[in-house]
Amino acid sequence: MSFSLQKKSDTLCFFSSFEELIPQIAGLKKKYESYLIFSDDFVFNLYGEDLADHLQTVGKPVSHILYPQGEMSKTWECATACWNQLIQSGADRSTLLIAIGGGVTSDLAGFIAGIYMRGIDFVVIPTTLLSMTDAAIGGKSGINFGGVKNLLGIIRQPRRIYLCEKFLETLPERELISGMAESVKHAVIGSEELFALLSKKGILSGEKSDLREIIIKSAEIKIGIVSRDEQEEGERALLNYGHTFGHALESATDYTKYLHGEAVSIGMSCAGYVGKKLGMVEEQFIEKQDSLCLSLGLPIKLPSFPDDETLLRLMKKDKKSISGKIRLIVPEKIGKVISIPDVPDIIILEALKEKRLKDERE
Ligand SMILES: NC(=O)c1ccc[n+]([C@@H]2O[C@H](COP(=O)([O-])OP(=O)(O)OC[C@H]3O[C@@H](n4cnc5c(N)ncnc54)[C@H](O)[C@@H]3O)[C@@H](O)[C@H]2O)c1
Repeated sequence: MSFSLQKKSDTLCFFSSFEELIPQIAGLKKKYESYLIFSDDFVFNLYGEDLADHLQTVGKPVSHILYPQGEMSKTWECATACWNQLIQSGADRSTLLIAIGGGVTSDLAGFIAGIYMRGIDFVVIPTTLLSMTDAAIGGKSGINFGGVKNLLGIIRQPRRIYLCEKFLETLPERELISGMAESVKHAVIGSEELFALLSKKGILSGEKSDLREIIIKSAEIKIGIVSRDEQEEGERALLNYGHTFGHALESATDYTKYLHGEAVSIGMSCAGYVGKKLGMVEEQFIEKQDSLCLSLGLPIKLPSFPDDETLLRLMKKDKKSISGKIRLIVPEKIGKVISIPDVPDIIILEALKEKRLKDERE
């Protein structure tokens, strides 16, 4: 059965099979003349042909554009190759782009569809936990550029987000665990209840209903924040909790060492130490947050490379930093974080030093 999570704009819908999905797509208010599946090569091999076969039943032309799987495809070169393929396929404003895949797919799809012809419509079918709980929601899209994560991008909402947890059955465990990091983030930002649910023993291998609840609760938190502040003029920035450190780790290691959620997990731990230095949280908070991440199989320790100075330099390049001043989202307690516009370098360096000492002792 499908249902809608966001009553107002009806954007998030669950489905359980492609048979059930196709009438939802065909029944969208705007009538499209063609469908274009957008995916990475790996996900397309798993699900793309089946989706294309089902879409054919609508009686409109169906084509596809594929890119090589992984974060390394979030580049200007890849985006340009996709735009060229859009031109070759004859895509226009009567085309619906159907993005199926993880967060890289939704980030690329929104950027490509949002710029092409000043914007063509797209829908997203997230297939990783991370994209179901976070990346596919909220309309942020973009690519990495100039050594900075997500430097180029736009905010453009998909027409719909279609959710089905069955895709998670083929997702490698490391990717599933990585996806949990964004749910931990949502819990620390705004829900003690979600934090408790994530802390339930064996949550990853347990009941399917638990996973669905995690997806729904995480998505609700993100949808709530985005619907109040779509353009990130205030509250939306809180969703970057753990990300300023995380993005710096990802770009310092050329997007090859850490999955996004893994870098965010380490980033949240670092943010906890900054919170402690600023007198906002006690050691107990850090331990609680770190233990949850560890119990889910997420990393929390800082690597020896990049060193603290390099991390700091990269953090200053982050989009959130203004005139070299680092804006950080810092915890107050489980369920509440705040934005600090100008965290002094010395506080960050001292926090990282304390964290490294603690990492060594563990
Ligand atoms: N726009 C946003 O608001 C937002 C929020 C959080 C993260 N992100 C972005 O999301 C990206 C990370 O997303 P991700 O972790 O989903 O990465 P991803 O899209 O690269 O997917 C991870 C890997 O899993 C494979 N895969 C996907 N679905 C599968 C399935 N069902 N079965 C088997 N394999 C599958 C993919 O081919 C890929 O190799 C990062 O680039 C991050 O910046 C964006």
